[in-house]
Amino acid sequence: MKKFITAIFVATVFGTSASAQEMTGAQMFRQNWTSAETASDGLGPIFNEASCHACHWFGGGARVRVRPDGEVAGAGVLLRHTFVDGTGDPHYGVQLQNKAVDGVEPEGVADLTALQVGDGLTRFLASVRFASGPGRTAGITMSLRAAPALDSTALVARVSPAAIIKGADSQDKNNDGISGRVHLLQVPGERPRIGRFNWKATAARVEDQVANALWFDMGLTSPAHPAPQGECTSRQHDCLEASGNQAPDLTVDFDNDRIATLSDHVRSLAVSPKIQEQPQSFTDAMCSSCHTPYMETSDGGSVALFSNLLLHNMGDGLTSYGGEGSASPTEWRTTPLVGFRGQLPDHRLLHDGRAANIDEAIRWHGGEAQASRDAYIALSGPEKLKLTSFVLALMSSMPVPSQGD
Ligand code: HEC
Ligand code: HEC
Repeated sequence: MKKFITAIFVATVFGTSASAQEMTGAQMFRQNWTSAETASDGLGPIFNEASCHACHWFGGGARVRVRPDGEVAGAGVLLRHTFVDGTGDPHYGVQLQNKAVDGVEPEGVADLTALQVGDGLTRFLASVRFASGPGRTAGITMSLRAAPALDSTALVARVSPAAIIKGADSQDKNNDGISGRVHLLQVPGERPRIGRFNWKATAARVEDQVANALWFDMGLTSPAHPAPQGECTSRQHDCLEASGNQAPDLTVDFDNDRIATLSDHVRSLAVSPKIQEQPQSFTDAMCSSCHTPYMETSDGGSVALFSNLLLHNMGDGLTSYGGEGSASPTEWRTTPLVGFRGQLPDHRLLHDGRAANIDEAIRWHGGEAQASRDAYIALSGPEKLKLTSFVLALMSSMPVPSQGD
């Protein structure tokens, strides 16, 4: 069966409509996708949101609000459920899809509560209300991922692979307690690629992550993910039936040209970093050992990123319980600090959005960053403020006026 996307342009944004063929990347990003006349086309059968914009609000990330009673509300936080080795739940797959097209049950909804853990720090607890299937599987771990702001994605894309490899010190040969390692992604039949996007560096190219997002988060197909049933597994019969259970074919919702157009839009969300004088404590407290200020680009220049793009063991406080790719539960990619997320309302920090501000984010650092965190704690009040203000300024860089927006 021929597959189309029913492109109903959100008139509230531009007050006009465009057919799928003529859409710009910005329009694709804001589009509320729908399923076509049958659920076998377009959105779903199961999905998290109908648009990129729903989670990456105006190119930003998750918006999370903690209510006084501890209830966590907002948009753009996903739940992953995997075994420790990263393989997905046998019934639900690796991601909990909380929405579905008509006639199909969604998988379930994750209710989040903020738990005070002392020192003014908060962690998020998830409890899932399953709406279909057998419910929780023994041995499955649960972990949250907040949509990151797409404010550094374009800059990360420019870094040369050699520069990432050069920063790695997996055996900690320089004996500083910090041993970053490259996340090598295995690609069947091809040379491994260097992971650089997402909280655990699980995608190598913007295009790869855009195709992942379309498929995992929205159930839209592309050459990289042609299966029309999206992330529904062989045990989810109503989902398979709704998708027609077709053999993958080349008629996908997003062909490579459309993936390229949407990826160009993501890259257009770049910032031009505003770097104030770096306080001595940024180096003395070893922040710069992971949040490397400048990285070399593939075209021989350099880009201010404040990340080495390597995986680091961040200690049990920041564990995801399950791994991803070859990243272990406690390994995370150093988050680039440049961006515009510092100016976004309800944008919180760290991989699940648990940190309300920069001070809290630093105080969650453990593992390889334990000594760095301790050095931060030992700073005087004014010195702490100088350091966090410096980081906040990096995160409040101006977006480069984007094209076609
Ligand atoms: C349901 C919420 C949700 C939707 C919808 C969504 N994303 Fe995301 N996005 C996320 C989360 C969560 C991550 C982090 C995933 C991880 O770390 O594994 C992410 C990561 C990304 C990244 C990596 C950014 C970086 O610099 O590392 C890009 C690029 C991205 N998304 C683009 C898109 C695009 C384009 C769309 C629409 C096709 C989209 N996303 C739809 C939640 C969402
Ligand atoms: C061993 C490497 C390492 C060191 C040292 C380190 N960081 Fe980090 N930093 C990380 C990683 C990895 C993350 C992502 C952790 C997560 O989200 O769970 C992170 C996250 C952050 C964040 C949150 C960013 C966001 O947008 O979510 C801030 C802010 C931050 N670091 C600042 C600092 C400062 C300031 C220092 C020095 C006091 C420091 N870090 C030292 C590796 C490091």
